[in-house]
Amino acid sequence: MPQFSQSRFAAWLQIIVSHRREESGLYAEIAGYLPLDDAERVLDIGTGTGLQLRAIHQLQPSIGLFGIDLSSAAIDAANRAIGDLEPDLKVGSIEKTTCPDDFFNIVTCNSSMSYWDNPLSCFNEIYRILKPGGVVKLFEPHQDIDLEGALDQIRENMADKSPLRRWGAVQLNKYTLERGSKFGLNLYTRNELLELSRTSSFGVNSSVDQVSLLDIPIFVCIHLWKPNP
Ligand SMILES: C[S@@+](CC[C@H](N)C(=O)[O-])C[C@H]1O[C@@H](n2cnc3c(N)ncnc32)[C@H](O)[C@@H]1O
Repeated sequence: MPQFSQSRFAAWLQIIVSHRREESGLYAEIAGYLPLDDAERVLDIGTGTGLQLRAIHQLQPSIGLFGIDLSSAAIDAANRAIGDLEPDLKVGSIEKTTCPDDFFNIVTCNSSMSYWDNPLSCFNEIYRILKPGGVVKLFEPHQDIDLEGALDQIRENMADKSPLRRWGAVQLNKYTLERGSKFGLNLYTRNELLELSRTSSFGVNSSVDQVSLLDIPIFVCIHLWKPNP
């Protein structure tokens, strides 16, 4: 991943964006997809400022919170934002972690997988650290989207915000979805993601489903699972 995402500027932008996402209810909506009942440990990959973990904690306060991010600036921000929840936050790539085998009940991420340099190795590492019976749900924008429809939905969602703030959100999303490849974003098609999942250690234990988050129709949920022996 290029240097931009590791920069202090990227971390600063991420702090602003992630607080807006939290306020919009995005992280709470994602947490609602996770099978949190009785789960002991959850890992959020590319956790950024860690606010996804806070939304998970709000639904399941007893779950152990773990986060990993390539960017030390992001992990510093996460420690400041959710340090009170005593999460285990690490700087590093999901491609090769120090986590034990069969460790997490749930692995999730929001808008990180499309930045991974070697997604196949990352999926295989997730398989290694996932407990048998565990579930992975990765939420990502994908390539086959109706961009104008998505931007209209963002405008509608932000109808009660100031015109400047609405314009800023639309421009940021438009730029990211159209030009993100300049800073390391690789948007995949749904079929490419399914092929990647099936080629990984998860094999047939995988599906890729289109989902709308906050009614914005640009996401897929990559659903992977590791059966009990
Ligand atoms: C667009 S941000 C999303 C942050 C957060 N999930 C959120 O919703 O606000 C993507 C994050 O993924 C991280 N990232 C990229 N590649 C990674 C990798 N291989 N392993 C762990 N984190 C990674 C980046 O450093 C960045 O913080």
